[in-house]
Amino acid sequence: MPRTRKIIIDTDPGQDDAVAILTALASDTLDVLGITAVAGNVPLALTERNSRMICELAGRADIRVFAGCDRPLRRQLVTAEEVHGRTGLDGPDLPPPGMPLQSQHAVDFIIDTIRGEAEGEVTICALGPLTNLAAAIERDRTILSRIREIVLMGGAYFEAGNVTPAAEFNIYVDPHAAAIVFACGAPVTVMPLDVTHKALTSPERIEAFRSIGNPVGDAVAKLTAFFERFDVEKYGIGGAPLHDPCVIAYLLQPELFSGRSVNVEIETSSELTMGMTVADWWRVTDRKPNAMFMNDIDDTGYFSLLTRKLALF
Ligand code: BDR
Ligand code: CA
Repeated sequence: MPRTRKIIIDTDPGQDDAVAILTALASDTLDVLGITAVAGNVPLALTERNSRMICELAGRADIRVFAGCDRPLRRQLVTAEEVHGRTGLDGPDLPPPGMPLQSQHAVDFIIDTIRGEAEGEVTICALGPLTNLAAAIERDRTILSRIREIVLMGGAYFEAGNVTPAAEFNIYVDPHAAAIVFACGAPVTVMPLDVTHKALTSPERIEAFRSIGNPVGDAVAKLTAFFERFDVEKYGIGGAPLHDPCVIAYLLQPELFSGRSVNVEIETSSELTMGMTVADWWRVTDRKPNAMFMNDIDDTGYFSLLTRKLALF
C-alpha cells in the first residue's frame, strides 16, 4: 500500500477539472488538504461555486474550498465558455452548493498549508491557470523547498496550441504566472496537450462511466458528453481530450505516462506566440532541465483507472 500523498488541488472547473477532483476524492491514497479555485475556464465566482458542487456530488462537504485570484497577474482574463458552457459545468443538473466557501484567500491557504506540513509533504495539482500558485511563490519563496512536487496540466510542444496556434489555454491565460512556476526550482511535472490529445473520450468510454450506476458515474457521463461536443464539432474527431484527470492519474499510476526531463521557458513578450511553452525537447541548448515534460500515455489504462476509481463512490 503506497503512503498517502497530501495534495492541494488548484482548479478552474471545468468538466475535466471536475472529473479530476472526483477521481482524487475517490482515492484513499490521496489526502485532499483543500481545493483552491482560480479564474480560468469561467470567472472565479463560478469556479469556486463549481468546486463546492463537485465536493457535494462526491459526498465530501467536509473538503475545504478557497477562492483565489480573480484575474491573471498582468493580463486580462480570458475564459472558455464556448468549451465548458455558461456555468463551466454544463451537462448534468447539479444542485446549488450548500457547503460554505472558506473565508481565507486561496493564496494564504497554499502558503500556510505548505509551511504547516512537514517538508516535502505537499504536492500541488494545478489544473488551471497558474495564478494562485505563482502568487504564493512570489509572496513566500520559502515554500519552494518544502513542496514535494508540482504536477500541472498545461502547455504543449508537439501539439503546439489549442487556444492560439502557439499556446495551450492554461498557460496562455496567465503566462507570467506560468513563467514564475517553471522557473521556481521545485520539482515540476507537466501534462501537456501532447499527452492529453491522446486521452480522448469515446462513446464506449462515456458509456463505461454511465454504467458504473452511481450518481457520480452518471454525472461524469453527462459532463464528458457535454464537454466532447466542442472538439467533435470543431475538429471532427471522435472524442475530446480529457485533460485534467491526467494530473491525478499520474499520482495514482505514474507508469501510465512517459516523457523527458527538459528545460521549458514561457513566452511572455510576443503577442503572436504568447504563452507558448518552449520545451527544449531535443536538448539543443544548455539550459538546465526544469520540468518532467510528458508526451505519452497508456490511454486504455487511463480510462480504466478513472472508471475503477469513480465506481468506488
Ligand atoms: C485546459 O484548459 C481548460 O479548458 C481545461 O480545463 C484544461 O485545464 C486544457 O487546455
Ligand atoms: Ca482546468
